[in-house]
Amino acid sequence: MKYHKLKAFDSNFLWGGSTSSYQFEGAWNEDGKGPSVIDTRPPREEITDYKVASDHYHHYKEDIALLAEMGFKAYRFSVAWTRIYPQGTGELNPKGIQFYNHLIDELLKYGIEPIVTMYHFDLPAALEKEGGWSNRSTINAFETYAKTLFEHFGDRVKYWLTINEQNMMILHGSALGTLDPNLKNPKKELYQQNHHMLLAQARAMILCKEMLPEAKVAPAPNISCVYPASSRPEDVLAADNFNAIRNWLYLDMAVFGRYNTLVWRYFEEKGYTPEIQEGDMSILSAAKPDFIAFNYYSSATVKASTQNSAEKGGMGDQQISVGEVGVFAGSGNEYLERTEFGWGIDPAGLRVTLRKIYDRYQLPLIITENGLGAFDSLEEGDVVRDDYRIDYLRKHIEQCQLAITDGVELFGYCPWSAIDLVSTHQGVSKRYGFVYVDRDEFNLRQLRRIRKNSFHWYKNMISSNGSAL
Ligand code: BG6
Repeated sequence: MKYHKLKAFDSNFLWGGSTSSYQFEGAWNEDGKGPSVIDTRPPREEITDYKVASDHYHHYKEDIALLAEMGFKAYRFSVAWTRIYPQGTGELNPKGIQFYNHLIDELLKYGIEPIVTMYHFDLPAALEKEGGWSNRSTINAFETYAKTLFEHFGDRVKYWLTINEQNMMILHGSALGTLDPNLKNPKKELYQQNHHMLLAQARAMILCKEMLPEAKVAPAPNISCVYPASSRPEDVLAADNFNAIRNWLYLDMAVFGRYNTLVWRYFEEKGYTPEIQEGDMSILSAAKPDFIAFNYYSSATVKASTQNSAEKGGMGDQQISVGEVGVFAGSGNEYLERTEFGWGIDPAGLRVTLRKIYDRYQLPLIITENGLGAFDSLEEGDVVRDDYRIDYLRKHIEQCQLAITDGVELFGYCPWSAIDLVSTHQGVSKRYGFVYVDRDEFNLRQLRRIRKNSFHWYKNMISSNGSAL
């Protein structure tokens, strides 16, 4: 539809940016922090580990001042579970509480709304030793951890996100480094873990409502609309399959409290059916999110599976779907340009995704990640000409406005990442931030913060409330 006039962004629209603890904080074993699974995985040789990352732990004041300078209305960050409970459960670490108290207070000093993710890929290693998400006691550990967060930070934090990209941990855990290498029958066990994570999320959502009636809580999956590669009905069916497996499984459970029908049949067919204990479904259906947070980088395109072995090959990553024989096959999309890392660039796909999610769930939405990973270069005079990033973000924000005009209730946009950090599996050279952090894979240099061109552009865009794109 072509509109004569676009709706404006609301005056309270939450313009901001996002990070996650292990990718940004560093200080991996300081002040009592315990190891997470990210810290215990063998490091990849060609890229940095997460020990120092952007050293935000020691730079948080300077970093938040930069966010304030850009005019951020909100900042989405995650709490490192192992700073709060070094062993995942048991003894609380007061220094961890103190760090996030300071961080939240610093944000509030500038009038920046904290949006807190409780768990972003960094499961406590001590819990993994006991079976991690395969063990139902991790559900209790998560609930206790959530309770602690609500008790200590709930007086100041209004927006809570439960689990970042649970769907990507299930589908692409090997790329992300979250997959437990000890699983014997990974797919089957992963869907059992998934069930437990869904329960943990539900219990945290219920608790949030009980303890903090004024707060709002949401899931935070990675959602990409799925296109059929052609109008061939078989391709359309394959797209439905993948949509259900990649996207709706997670949101249907969070919002409606039930398993998606297509996915349940897929589980039965493949032998992945999780064990559901008495009482599980009533917890799942009692939990209700107040809004949906989601991360969007690209759309996905799939076609019918040809059922031959040539389809197999590689696991892909968050935005590269290889396929599953008999269910769907990944396909290219000739209409899209690609990033230097092979992810499709599809701003209109964001509008499609917003419309689909809103249509299906009728809840307010916030984009908690969206952005361009690129090899930025620091030029003399501290200049970073990341005009390609400005182009990417501008086009996606235009689509947000179109979706709002379509009637979608979108209340915030927090791209990835507020400041440079370490990517999940492609090092620190794959940069996303508005602020350059001067380090490379193995040389930490001074970790100086340098405003990129996109910093100035975003600042101006926020001050115009989205009209100066
Ligand atoms: C999302 C994650 O999948 O995408 C982030 O929530 C991640 O943690 C971001 O960094 C970009 O992906 P990558 O793999 O380029 O770091």
